[in-house]
Amino acid sequence: MSLHTLGYVGFNATDLDDWRLYATGVLGMQAVDQTADALRLRMDGKHHRFAIHKSATPGFAYSGWDVGTRAELERLTAELTALGYPAAEGTEAERAFRRVVDLRVFTDPGGNRVELFYGQLSGCPFTPARQFGGFKTGELGLGHVVFMTRSVEAMMAFYAVIGLKMSDYIFIKPVQSMAYFMHLNARHHSLALLGGPQDVFHHIMIEANSLDDVGMANELALRQGRTVTMSLGKHTNDEVVSFYTMTPSGFELEYGCGGRTIDDQESWQVVEYDDISFWGHLGPLRPPV
Ligand SMILES: [Fe+2]
Repeated sequence: MSLHTLGYVGFNATDLDDWRLYATGVLGMQAVDQTADALRLRMDGKHHRFAIHKSATPGFAYSGWDVGTRAELERLTAELTALGYPAAEGTEAERAFRRVVDLRVFTDPGGNRVELFYGQLSGCPFTPARQFGGFKTGELGLGHVVFMTRSVEAMMAFYAVIGLKMSDYIFIKPVQSMAYFMHLNARHHSLALLGGPQDVFHHIMIEANSLDDVGMANELALRQGRTVTMSLGKHTNDEVVSFYTMTPSGFELEYGCGGRTIDDQESWQVVEYDDISFWGHLGPLRPPV
């Protein structure tokens, strides 16, 4: 199993103040700093995990994958370039903003910006904005990202180069589409792909250490008037207890706890599930009636 992780994410938004209110007041993150152009949010000892960029077009901006060393960054760059995915060097401004030693920028087959990096600034004090027991990150990375795509095969091949392997599948009946879950480390999945009619970011998941913090975030989301897009529920494959809200960037965020880990890659059985959840998660993918 690789030691690579999902290290940071970037999103676009029209209203940075609203993101700050949501991230600090609902999610339990710490606002590191905010300018007219960007808001950076801390989840643990890393300098930041989320960067929100001011933009007239809200949505996904980039995912950043920590590959550990310069040698690994060079190896993966060569491999992706040989497969027809050329790299752009990260600029001085990008390295400084992301607080990493170096990065390379790619475009995946769905048109999404992907950054590979190493040397993210660590050891920063995490001071959550409210009473909060912390996020599960470290060797599991910050959570998972999910894309809807017209090019499932090509996307799987691209992310396999970074080290993502199949965890399991779920056929999602309400949308008559297969979802593919892939792991990079012990986290059950760091990436999922949902076959569909367009290439678009679907959701990001972050994991709290305790069920109390998930329940509290659910209450705070409702008190802040956020749209809960899927009610509290428990997923079948990764066993996460979570709920989903609409972010100020117009996609969903899954907030959960209790995720299953893949500790032994060799004995892991890839299976298919016929529903996304044991209970709950009522919403478009699990209609209440
Ligand atoms: Fe998820």
